[in-house]
Amino acid sequence: MFLKTVSVFLCLIALGKTNIVFQQWLVKNGNGSFIDLKATVPGGIYTDLMNNKIIGDIFYEYNDVNYRWVAKENWTYYTKFTVQDDFLKNEHINIVFEGLDTYADVKINNITVGKSRNMFVKYIFDIKKTLKLGLNTLEVEFRSPLEMALKLAEIQNKNYNIPPQCTPESYHGECHVNYLRKMQASFAWDWGPAFPSMGIWKDFKIRGYNKNLVEYVVADVTESNDQWIVNVDVYFTNDTEHADGDIYYELDLEFKKIEAVLQNNVTKNEYGEIVRTFSFSVNKYDTKLWWPNGYGAQQLYNLKIHYANKNMEEYVVTKRIGFRTIELVQEKIKNGLTFYFKVNNEPIFIKGANEIPIDILPEKGLNKEKIKRLLTTAYDSHMNMLRVWGGGVYESDYFYDVADELGILIWQDFMFACALYPVDEGFLTNVVDEVRHQVKRLYGHPSIALFAGNNENEAAIAQNWYQTNGNKNQFVKDYVKLYIDTIENEYNRLTNFRGLFLSSSPTNGDQSKNEGYVAKEPGSSFYGDVHYYNYVLDSFKISTYPKPRFASEYGYQSYPSFNTMLTTTKDIKNLNLSSAFMDHIQHHPVGNIEMKTLIDYQLKLPDKNHPNYTRAFIYYSQIIQAMSIKIETEHYRSLRSDLDASGQGQTMGALYWQLNDVWVAPTWSGIDYLGKWKMLQYYTMDFFAPVIVTGSVDAARNLNIYVVSDKLSELLDVTLYLEVYNWNSTELKPVNIMEKAIDSIMPSSSMTILNFQLDKYLSSIDKCQISNSLPKNNCFIHLRLKINHSNIYPENFVIPGKIKDSNIPIPNIQISYVKTIGVKKFEIVLKTDKIALFVWLESHPIKGRFSENGFIQINSTKTIYFYSDDNVTLENFKSGLYLTNLLDTHYF
Ligand SMILES: *[C@@H]1O[C@H](CO)[C@@H](O)[C@H](O)[C@H]1NC(C)=O
Ligand SMILES: *[C@@H]1O[C@H](CO)[C@@H](O)[C@H](O)[C@H]1NC(C)=O
Ligand SMILES: *[C@@H]1O[C@H](CO)[C@@H](O)[C@H](O)[C@H]1NC(C)=O
Ligand SMILES: *[C@@H]1O[C@H](CO)[C@@H](O)[C@H](O)[C@H]1NC(C)=O
Ligand SMILES: *[C@@H]1O[C@H](CO)[C@@H](O)[C@H](O)[C@H]1NC(C)=O
Ligand SMILES: *[C@@H]1O[C@H](CO)[C@@H](O)[C@H](O)[C@H]1NC(C)=O
Ligand SMILES: *[C@@H]1O[C@H](CO)[C@@H](O)[C@H](O)[C@H]1NC(C)=O
Ligand SMILES: *[C@@H]1O[C@H](CO)[C@@H](O)[C@H](O)[C@H]1NC(C)=O
Ligand SMILES: *[C@@H]1O[C@H](CO)[C@@H](O)[C@H](O)[C@H]1NC(C)=O
Repeated sequence: MFLKTVSVFLCLIALGKTNIVFQQWLVKNGNGSFIDLKATVPGGIYTDLMNNKIIGDIFYEYNDVNYRWVAKENWTYYTKFTVQDDFLKNEHINIVFEGLDTYADVKINNITVGKSRNMFVKYIFDIKKTLKLGLNTLEVEFRSPLEMALKLAEIQNKNYNIPPQCTPESYHGECHVNYLRKMQASFAWDWGPAFPSMGIWKDFKIRGYNKNLVEYVVADVTESNDQWIVNVDVYFTNDTEHADGDIYYELDLEFKKIEAVLQNNVTKNEYGEIVRTFSFSVNKYDTKLWWPNGYGAQQLYNLKIHYANKNMEEYVVTKRIGFRTIELVQEKIKNGLTFYFKVNNEPIFIKGANEIPIDILPEKGLNKEKIKRLLTTAYDSHMNMLRVWGGGVYESDYFYDVADELGILIWQDFMFACALYPVDEGFLTNVVDEVRHQVKRLYGHPSIALFAGNNENEAAIAQNWYQTNGNKNQFVKDYVKLYIDTIENEYNRLTNFRGLFLSSSPTNGDQSKNEGYVAKEPGSSFYGDVHYYNYVLDSFKISTYPKPRFASEYGYQSYPSFNTMLTTTKDIKNLNLSSAFMDHIQHHPVGNIEMKTLIDYQLKLPDKNHPNYTRAFIYYSQIIQAMSIKIETEHYRSLRSDLDASGQGQTMGALYWQLNDVWVAPTWSGIDYLGKWKMLQYYTMDFFAPVIVTGSVDAARNLNIYVVSDKLSELLDVTLYLEVYNWNSTELKPVNIMEKAIDSIMPSSSMTILNFQLDKYLSSIDKCQISNSLPKNNCFIHLRLKINHSNIYPENFVIPGKIKDSNIPIPNIQISYVKTIGVKKFEIVLKTDKIALFVWLESHPIKGRFSENGFIQINSTKTIYFYSDDNVTLENFKSGLYLTNLLDTHYF
């Protein structure tokens, strides 16, 4: 009987489909000095002006500032379309915008049908009465974001100032972005330019229907003994008072289908929503779990929701669900609280990075190829989480779909960053609309681990970043009103209190709550997460780093490669570190000085007047960035099972800053704006590997060797090989080998397996004291693990002294040969006569990546592979190939 009902469903007419054809979109500015420029929708004003050759490449030289006039103008997008008689017969007709950036009036036939004031809200406007038979006009009039921000700030400032007023001067940015619900970084950041765009940045459509449509389906999964409960909220269009009709759902499991028909008559709730909530159970043994990357498969299941209303119109929505549980554990331990994620009941050490917008132009951030590439890189680097940072955008549906498929958990910030915010009624209502839309859109993704209220705003108040202490009580009150009473409250309502929420990052979590949400010291090592940056202390020393429960931000700047830099200027004089241009793109105040300080601790830069000084500086900045983040990350990983006497440790997360770039400039990224991997990105593949061996030297010069395992099973029969090499040996063989057998490495643990005085040990090795200098400057240590007689990668190394003090001879390293070994795959063989450090290959302009890069070559022969993005000939590939190393004679 039930199947019969189902078959009736399949004969219904499909709903919500229209065939309205829009004419070419055009755009004009406020005073009509530009008119009828061809425009693209979805799109944005900078892209359209570039396509019309009104402006050039926005990333070229000083164009970020040269083109600022664009954001000072109002821009109107307009088009025409024809409507047929039968379409007008629909009882309801809406125009739906998935994203308008930001302040806009929408007009149909010169009548305002709606207004936008938040780029993160989906706008649905009723146009039933405005539409007419035949030709109609549609205009979207955007207001200058700079003008709007200033206007709103002026109104507010009559009451009290809400800082910061403007970005620091070195950003070349704009003012008062905190008044706009717009990508906060679009007014500039320390890693990005100001391009305050305007435009219809996401899809739009006109739709007609007679009763209701399904607007959102939100489905999550909870656990109940040996059952999964699938909780479903079906949100209907709300231009009626109630929605009736039938819902038929089907969940396809591997060997079974779960389906049912529900009769339905729901009325509008007090929030103006018409929502049907239901749940059903699934036996656990009929399902496979969804796991984060590195722990198992990412099994996803299709949940189809069919809705048929009493006019026999049908609407189908498919959602993919994953069976998994996720908890954030904050339990009392010695001095403080733990802070870690448990997925499917397993404590998971979080490994990953912070994601900034895919592109500074929001419409370009929808590029699927770019998203797929970025998330696949995260996957290949053993990352299991990305933090979508609060100064950017809620990314596209596709981004979260791919994260679901690859097992990349998402720490999702709400879009508030590094500022205080207004809390007037208009602003809060606007924020509630945003929370409603984004939580309904994103929350059901299995990859979504938690939502967080903001980036660094608890810390900003606690540490008085904006010298507002006189007004602290006001700002704490406003903080609670915005992030707790408004955002968290709405989030809890929408997720039925099932979603994880943190009010800020960094935060002390439950401890911040106890202290009224603004803790005295939100970056405490004893609670919650920390953001840690230090550009003063030697980044190769582990004493530089804290022992937090969870490191959600940490990092170092570096320059993108010389060839990448050459895409932003044709004038080679600009690529002098002390040029005005280099100063222009370095937004971080004294960033170059800090990079140099850190380089100087460990490496010896060429003479300042050497023609290749900039080249060397760029390459050295990448070495220091990669090495520092490697050392810091391995330090955090080695602490997962450690709790020191003061109660610090049990670190369970390492998300470095930052994964990607939005322009070509010195930034904290591991991947440059052209998609080229910096040395850091290559290093992540090793330091985030599931099992690592790592050594660090403490203040007493003790070498501590750790094995860290994220495996859920015990490792048996493990042998460590500690091999000492003399830098200056031409034999390329260890001068001493220490072997240590370990019976077992416990699952999900870090463990010290060796601890000894390093200098004493090196002094005992003859071949480490062949010159007058200290043994620590003659030798280095290579670490290798065997488990069950097979090698476990990655290998690792410890450099006992400072690199610049070590007696490292200049190697003669060369590309021995290159050959094609498959489609888009090349083999490169390197030969060296001595140990070579930070061996670096580039393939400009061929896009792709190497199997390894930035490595220490200890064997005379080494084979590397290159995976090209495009079809290229061997000749083309070879002609762009470039090899360098720390002691490259081109620098000295
Ligand atoms: C219109 O605006 C543009 C850009 O701001 C400006 O250059 C131009 O002089 C204005 N034209 C008129 C007629 O006001
Ligand atoms: C933009 O439009 C508003 C509202 O019509 C107007 O007040 C403002 O002067 C315009 N700005 C520019 C730069 O044309
Ligand atoms: C649109 O409406 C405005 C005032 O509402 C009027 O001034 C203008 O002439 C109208 N434009 C057209 C094309 O009808
Ligand atoms: C649904 O409920 C409303 C009142 O809540 C009622 O007016 C309407 O007739 C009901 N529809 C059906 C199909 O029962
Ligand atoms: C429909 O829902 C939206 C979003 O929640 C809300 O802003 C609007 O007021 C509701 N409309 C009606 C007619 O209830
Ligand atoms: C590299 O050298 C070491 C030490 O001599 C040797 O054990 C190892 O097999 C070599 N590896 C390769 C790939 O040749
Ligand atoms: C390496 O060893 C050779 C002789 O064996 C010596 O002449 C040279 O100075 C050494 N180089 C370094 C950098 O220690
Ligand atoms: C690249 O080469 C492969 C294999 O020769 C071929 O199948 C493919 O179509 C080529 N792609 C392009 C874009 O030329
Ligand atoms: C600078 O580096 C380039 C590229 O490696 C090289 O061709 C050139 O000879 C170097 N210049 C000097 C003075 O070493």
